[in-house]
Amino acid sequence: MNAPLHNDTFLRACLRQPTTHTPIWLMRQAGRYLPEYKATRVAAGNSFMGLATNPQYATDVTLQPLDRYQLDAAILFSDILTVPDAMGLGLSFGAGEGPKFAHPLRTEADVAKLAVPDLDKLRYVFDAVASIRKALVTTDAQGRRAGRVPLIGFSGSPWTLACYMVEGGGSDDYRLVKTMLYSRPDLMHRILAVNADAVAAYLNAQIEAGAQAVMVFDSWGGVLEHRAFHQFSLAYTQRVLHQLKREHDGQRIPAIVFTKGGGLWLEQIAATGADVVGLDWTTDLGQARRRVDDSVALQGNFDPMALFATPEAVATEARAVLDSFGPPQRADGRWGGHIFNLGHGINQHTPLEHVQALVEAVHAHSPTLRQSVVKG
Ligand code: CP3
Repeated sequence: MNAPLHNDTFLRACLRQPTTHTPIWLMRQAGRYLPEYKATRVAAGNSFMGLATNPQYATDVTLQPLDRYQLDAAILFSDILTVPDAMGLGLSFGAGEGPKFAHPLRTEADVAKLAVPDLDKLRYVFDAVASIRKALVTTDAQGRRAGRVPLIGFSGSPWTLACYMVEGGGSDDYRLVKTMLYSRPDLMHRILAVNADAVAAYLNAQIEAGAQAVMVFDSWGGVLEHRAFHQFSLAYTQRVLHQLKREHDGQRIPAIVFTKGGGLWLEQIAATGADVVGLDWTTDLGQARRRVDDSVALQGNFDPMALFATPEAVATEARAVLDSFGPPQRADGRWGGHIFNLGHGINQHTPLEHVQALVEAVHAHSPTLRQSVVKG
């Protein structure tokens, strides 16, 4: 399939408008499974932040998966942890160890000092957004890349950021952050309020710089107990959405909320006012769709580990995910929206040709679903 010059399929699906195929992009689509990513990372001093803080490198790396695969959206190359870094927590990525903060939040005094950062410290992110947008609308000698696909900006959710800020890095059991949540809920609420206001300002600045949709990654919302999820994660995601610019340059800016492990709370997540709810592989898309009666679009939910099967099995699984959502068009004339994605980030050992098989299967099978309708 040739890429159309102006492929707005992703934005249309987010807004539940008719599309000829189901758009696909992949969480963490720019990253270590791509040899060209590893090469650029070496050129940037073998450092993740070396890539992220340089708008030219960030642009190059964002475009790499689009040059290889017919993906329907680009996502800003950056990280959710840039915000706590700008708050002074001192982010580093040790070789093969994942993220670390030099100054995690452990005491009442640490929390009292926390404030929404000066957005100038994140200027490199907004410069990257502007540079990527420019690259996506510039025609090269072969006529490629002209308005190719929309650009997604993103942030961590207030809760997911708080996990890293209190733990000081990744965690298996969330012991420190949950200890604070249960023993000093006042401190946790203060962190989350500051994070929510910082995230809203950060996303709005990305929108001003040219992001055409925004996604909030609540990667660790699903580790919370039921009531705690509502009080400490969802309420603050809601606080972000309330402050978001939902229109820019006359265009609606869709907001996507992805809570890993959040399928049980789908109705409540949809009620935040998100345009799109991201789902992991534990939820059936067809049932999810009926639960929200197509009041939001759904994004997901292919198991990234299924990409390690044969290309034929990858294609079969991809069709099963599309079929579980069903025909986007309804008998009552409305449309549902499905954005095909993984249920979490792509694994760094994923075989390159299996990603190709996935994208091709989605683009080949999804038009056939448009020959029928589902009961509205
Ligand atoms: O999706 C994309 O292609 C855009 C870029 C992107 C990155 N991180 C680049 C990255 C996005 C959207 C993120 C989000 C992110 N970062 C999340 C939310 C999504 C999710 O997976 O739940 C989280 C929890 C983080 C925190 C983070 N950043 C971790 C835990 C790590 C180390 C482990 C890992 O997966 O690599 C990072 C580093 C990171 N962020 C890398 C990339 C490409 C690898 C860094 C490297 O090259 O060394």
